Amino acid sequence: MSVARSLPHDAARLHVTGAARYVDDIPVPADCLHLAFGLSQIACGRITSINLDAVRAAPGVVGVWLANDLPSDCDCSPSVHDEPMLAGDQISYLGQPIFLVAATSHLAARRAATLGEITYDEAPALLTIDEALAASSQFDGSPRIWSKGDANQAIASAQHQIEGEIEMGGQEHFYLEGQAALVMPQENGDMVVHSSTQHPSEIQHKVAHALHLPMHSVRVEIRRMGGGFGGKESQGNALAIACAVVAAATGQPAKMRYDRDDDFMITGKRHDFRISYRVGFDETGRLTGLAFRQYTRCGWAQDLSFPVADRAMLHADNAYFVPAMSIESHRLRTNTQSATAFRGFGGPQGMLGMERVMDHIAAELGLDPLQVRRVNFYEGGGLSAPRSAMPSPPEGISGPKKRNETHYGQQIDDFDLDEMVAQLAEGCDYAARRQRVADWNAANPVLKRGIALTPVKFGISFTLTHLNQAGALVHVYQDGSIQLNHGGTEMGQGLFQKVAQVAASVFGQPMEAIRITATDTGKVPNTSATAASSGSDLNGMAVKLACETIRSRMEAHLGDEVRFEDGVVFVDGKDISFAEAAKRCYEGRVSLSATGFYKTPKLSWDPIAGQGRPFFYFAYGAACSEVVIDTLTGENRILRCDILHDAGASLNPALDIGQVEGGFVQGAGWLTTEELVWDAKGRLRTHAPSTYKIPACSDRPDIFNVALWDRANGEETIYRSKAVGEPPFMHGISVLMALSDAVASCGSGYPDLHAPATAERILGAVQKVRDGH
Ligand code: MTE
Ligand code: MOS
Repeated sequence: MSVARSLPHDAARLHVTGAARYVDDIPVPADCLHLAFGLSQIACGRITSINLDAVRAAPGVVGVWLANDLPSDCDCSPSVHDEPMLAGDQISYLGQPIFLVAATSHLAARRAATLGEITYDEAPALLTIDEALAASSQFDGSPRIWSKGDANQAIASAQHQIEGEIEMGGQEHFYLEGQAALVMPQENGDMVVHSSTQHPSEIQHKVAHALHLPMHSVRVEIRRMGGGFGGKESQGNALAIACAVVAAATGQPAKMRYDRDDDFMITGKRHDFRISYRVGFDETGRLTGLAFRQYTRCGWAQDLSFPVADRAMLHADNAYFVPAMSIESHRLRTNTQSATAFRGFGGPQGMLGMERVMDHIAAELGLDPLQVRRVNFYEGGGLSAPRSAMPSPPEGISGPKKRNETHYGQQIDDFDLDEMVAQLAEGCDYAARRQRVADWNAANPVLKRGIALTPVKFGISFTLTHLNQAGALVHVYQDGSIQLNHGGTEMGQGLFQKVAQVAASVFGQPMEAIRITATDTGKVPNTSATAASSGSDLNGMAVKLACETIRSRMEAHLGDEVRFEDGVVFVDGKDISFAEAAKRCYEGRVSLSATGFYKTPKLSWDPIAGQGRPFFYFAYGAACSEVVIDTLTGENRILRCDILHDAGASLNPALDIGQVEGGFVQGAGWLTTEELVWDAKGRLRTHAPSTYKIPACSDRPDIFNVALWDRANGEETIYRSKAVGEPPFMHGISVLMALSDAVASCGSGYPDLHAPATAERILGAVQKVRDGH
């Protein structure tokens, strides 16, 4: 079987030789126009005058469009229709597109786009969480409040109480390939769109809407992205729509790709959050009540902020049972880029709030944070969880008898973290190393070490239930070669290879028999974004069903006893080649093409009440990181990281380990070096690699041990695997907690360390604990 094998990424060779084709590499006809946006230079206010004569007169310029010149509002929003592609009079953020230029070359368009003469009536901008709160600048439907039991009462009557707050910054996606689109006009006004997008059906829908076309007139194709990370779920809409508008107006192909600085200035990023907490607990650190307030900076438009903020609420428990909990989620509108999906989709922020609580409780009680984490774990281990090692629960705690119901009412019956954490702690020698870290810190005045082991529990499924569906289209040709199409998109995560492994397995064929193709809305319609980590769950299943349909037709035609195995087809005791089998079926007039359709079972969810079963299952993992900080400068390094991650029965362990490694590094980057800074005018000052620091190869831990937890998914997923795209991102939390541990060793009191924990912040936190607060 091809599934479960560690095959390399299908395009690995193309990636490393530079032969992989991205949107910008597609050869374009000579008359192709190149586009650029002219951007607002203020964050909030009105346009009082606009003079684009110099733009029009610039070399190579063919056309210029303002909002009024467009065929429609050209809305780019994936949610509530609040994002016109070009600002009218009203400016909502610095970097907002105001006009569109088409020119004969990319550089000519970009140069011309800087020549607009625009005057503004500037108004005070709301940039920060505090400014938005003071102005009550919230989106309709905010705050959203969920509660389980009486949290206030439970906190008030607890043996111990603490309260605190953590700020966490946003994050730029920094996909290596920037946003790009190319539109080729066809006969009858139809459009073929090449877009670097995680969501081809959304591009199709938005282009059709902008041009008043039915969706059947627009076909969207994408072979691969050079990274998406959530940043290409909705942020590609503007480019595709702009190209389509110009293609419709001129009859010429049109292409747009953002320069990296423009990409930073225009597109949305991860939501930054402030999370405050009030918590009650007993002397073992076990939670009795918890109240969270989550403040979410959404930017100027809604985009996906509501489902992102919901997922933050859904992950506020992380891996822990809370008898009584309330969560208040404030979705704030600010004059900044409209924050969007980013790996984890709010989950990391919600989860970090809870991990901070665990860490803070441990500091308060002088306990090992791992011990506090473990006494709070959910129960409900499906298998032989070693619970004997754990303290028994205190008497008289209200709530369900078994500590396995989340704050939103979903039962957990496959909780593997007791076992996983025990195995990881032993394998990485946690207890002894914690002692060695303490010894080191006692002996070394300048360099201080820290260690932390944190768990992850991440819910798998789109919380908008109807998105949990997928389609596939499979063709077997008469020579036995197989063409595979499905609705998922490839962004480096290895989805196409995993799904091809599924197809190869169903037909018992080698991988070479399968041709992976570009995602194409003309082949599989009405697809969901490749997001929520569910690409292989959904599309793998749809492909399996399509292949099985064809296989059973072939079986029925070929003989009484037919098996597909080892590259051949056994027909009534004899084996024939798959090509021969395909030929016989073709000549027997058997259809060798089929669609497959899958929808995730068992889901029901009410986001307003915050009740139901939003997730088909959970993916688990745990990470232990050890760091060192320089207390004179705040500089720091990750010395070692050990991760045990649950990918169910992995479809491809090599690709899954790659996802775990990449996810961890990206998560660590979010919480350490990646800092977004807006100045007082709302201008993003960190808008290029010179000022925005993503982790480099040299930032990965010197010792980096990643292993998969090899246990089949309890739910019937594709070959019992689990989704793996986002959950490992949150292993990065172990780094922040380890840094906090190192800071704590410098003095007294719980470190007031916020994220990203840049060198400056670490230095500041060290000074604070040295001063004794
Ligand atoms: N891995 C790579 N190399 N590049 C990416 O853009 N995106 C992540 C994750 N891993 C991403 C990635 C995000 S945000 C998601 S939701 C999943 O991959 C999407 O793919 P999947 O559903 O097939 O796992
Ligand atoms: Mo991933 S943030 O769901 O694209």
